[in-house]
Amino acid sequence: MAKIQKPLAEVRYAKELAALEYADKGNSKPAGWKLSPAAVRDFIIGRNEPIAFGGENVEITQKFYGDNALVERAVITLAGSRGLMLVGEPGTAKTMLSELLSAAVCGISSNTVQGSAGTTEDNIKYSWNYALLLSKGPVQEALIPAPVYRGMREGIITRFEELTRCPQEVQDTLISLMSDRVMNIPEFEEGQNLLFAAEGFNIIGTANTRDKGVNDMSSALKRRFNFETVEPVKSPKLEAKIIASQCGELMENAGISAKIDMQAADILAEVFGELRSGVSSEKANVPKMSCVMSTAEAVSVYYQSALDAEYFGGGHISMRKLTENLLGAVLKESRDDLPKLREYYSGAIKLKAERRGGIWNEFYDSRSFLK
Ligand SMILES: Nc1ncnc2c1ncn2[C@@H]1O[C@H](COP(=O)(O)OP(=O)(O)OP(=O)(O)O)[C@@H](O)[C@H]1O
Ligand SMILES: [Mg+2]
Repeated sequence: MAKIQKPLAEVRYAKELAALEYADKGNSKPAGWKLSPAAVRDFIIGRNEPIAFGGENVEITQKFYGDNALVERAVITLAGSRGLMLVGEPGTAKTMLSELLSAAVCGISSNTVQGSAGTTEDNIKYSWNYALLLSKGPVQEALIPAPVYRGMREGIITRFEELTRCPQEVQDTLISLMSDRVMNIPEFEEGQNLLFAAEGFNIIGTANTRDKGVNDMSSALKRRFNFETVEPVKSPKLEAKIIASQCGELMENAGISAKIDMQAADILAEVFGELRSGVSSEKANVPKMSCVMSTAEAVSVYYQSALDAEYFGGGHISMRKLTENLLGAVLKESRDDLPKLREYYSGAIKLKAERRGGIWNEFYDSRSFLK
């Protein structure tokens, strides 16, 4: 069978989850959860000590970097009676966090509604197999469960991606489901027409503040969620770490054995941080780009460059490739960013080359490929 490109979080980290469950025995857990809140947190932000499990020491790796307190608050929200809404700029790991939380809390991260302008109530609650409906009437067998139905029946997390892209009246079907924790199925007979949510059910929504704001959520629905804003990473050191760890995983998956070039990761992290904030570490002028300089984008620029190095560059990531891939990421939104990027190189990057020399010189020289 062909290898899966991106296995689910619960599959990728199956060993870590099993080790955490083993070490978690005896700890109190919210009803319907596989792990205690502390173990869920450890799964996401890593744990200092490995766990001796199955004859080996299982390392619990850090997967989300940044705000540990946010992770704890998110876990506590899920243990309560409100849903969790992760909002923020694109590429700040909202989706990743919601997958990791679901995998740790209930062992399933795939029970997901992918919100879009075309999402209907049927995609959230249930629909019917019309052949069966016609032949047998509205029987259980004819009902096709959608993710919220499944979440309520099985007592698992339902992930709702890009909630605010759905029409408001569709979003609002969640209001009564989330407060009453019961779904009415009027087609079924009296007595069988109520689906009560099993313990463990909750909803994690994500929404992007750039595309369409959370203003498009009704206030009644907002009240059913605790909101957490996932901020872009602020420290270049941390961002370089994310680039290294995420690309390490991607490269391993792609069968590339090359080691991460930390110098290249550091450069990218510094450049992305400066273009995002508009401030350079040398206090040089940094023009503001119209595109989002997200960490996800930095990871993909590094990965592109690493692939290039592997297949065309003799394993070495050249500064030219870094610049070319950076340009590709920047120009996605608007070509007006090209002169701004040139200005950044001839100002802030030039200064870094003069003051720090070495690899920054090489990076500055690659500006001739900004075209
Ligand atoms: N703080 C972080 N810790 C770890 N990885 C991060 C972090 N921020 C960004 N990333 C990287 O960014 C990638 C993309 O994240 P993800 O798709 O979850 O973002 P998102 O916030 O859902 O974006 P969008 O709003 O576009 O849907 C992650 O897979 C990871 O590689
Ligand atoms: Mg997302």
